[in-house]
Formats: sequence, structure tokens, C-alpha cells
Amino acid sequence: MARLLSLTLNGKTHLGAVPDNLLLLDYLRERVGLTGTKTGCDGGECGACTVLIDDKPVLSCLTLAAVCDGRRVDTVESLAANGRLSAIQQGFHEKLGAQCGYCTPGLIMASEALLRANPDPSESEIRAALASNICRCTGYVKIIAAVRHAAKLRAAGERR
Ligand code: FES
Ligand code: FES
Repeated sequence: MARLLSLTLNGKTHLGAVPDNLLLLDYLRERVGLTGTKTGCDGGECGACTVLIDDKPVLSCLTLAAVCDGRRVDTVESLAANGRLSAIQQGFHEKLGAQCGYCTPGLIMASEALLRANPDPSESEIRAALASNICRCTGYVKIIAAVRHAAKLRAAGERR
């Protein structure tokens, strides 16, 4: 079975017919060509595929594209504007929050969701928000520093 899908993806309306069983991760990467969202474990364990639906982080490898009908989906490609990194991207850049970078889009989107809901999170709140995102390189210390720095950039109005 296929169904019509209408969603707002990175601020633009997308319309199309999708199979009922098409995963959001595959819709984004293969149908729309947004490859910033990564396939990691493909089973809900690593967080590399994290995107936002209506500002909430979801694992796109466990989410059907069809459930996004009428909703707002944001991927990592939505963050930079006019060649300028967003606050959370700048935070990861300045604080060296990425090494191999494979986990980074998922961590950035999970962090973005946190900062939208809680602009001044504590370290324990950051750790809790990112608990489902696995990084094999950084040891997480620089990631925490990146999120804290991004919160300061947002508070100062320097980055959105
Ligand atoms: S690819 Fe989705 S949680 Fe790992
Ligand atoms: S930077 Fe390599 S897995 Fe996180």
C-alpha cells in the first residue's frame, strides 16, 4: 500500500506517494537526497539517524515516513543559513565535538532539540538528553562542552 504524504521538511512543503513501510531514514536519504542523516546501527541503538519531528528528537530508522504526514521534520541540513553555522554547529566546531563525525549529525539534532526546549541546560540535563546517542571517538567531554558553548551563543544572540 502507498499513501500520499505531505510534510514540512526543513521549512519546505514536500508532497509525494510513499509505501506504508518506508522508513523516514530511507525517505530522507534515498527519496529526498538529504544524506546528512546517517544510518548507523539501523536498529534503534546508536542515535546516528536522529532528526526532529515537531521539535522532538526521533530515531528515523524506527519511524515510518507515513507518520510524518502533516508534521514538521527538521534534519541537520536545516541548521546552517546563508553559509553561517547555527549555534549548535558552531559549538561542535569550536569545542572539537566531532572526530570521525559519523555520530555528529545525530548528536547535533538531539542537542538542538534540547536547546529548543531548555535554553540553559545543566551538564546532567545535557548528558540525559544525549544518552541515546553513541559516540565511539570523543569520550563525550567535548560534546558536552560544545552544547554548553552553543547555549551561550544562543543566549548572547550570536547564533540561532
Ligand atoms: S541508525 Fe537509527 S538508532 Fe542507529
Ligand atoms: S566522532 Fe566518531 S563516532 Fe562520534
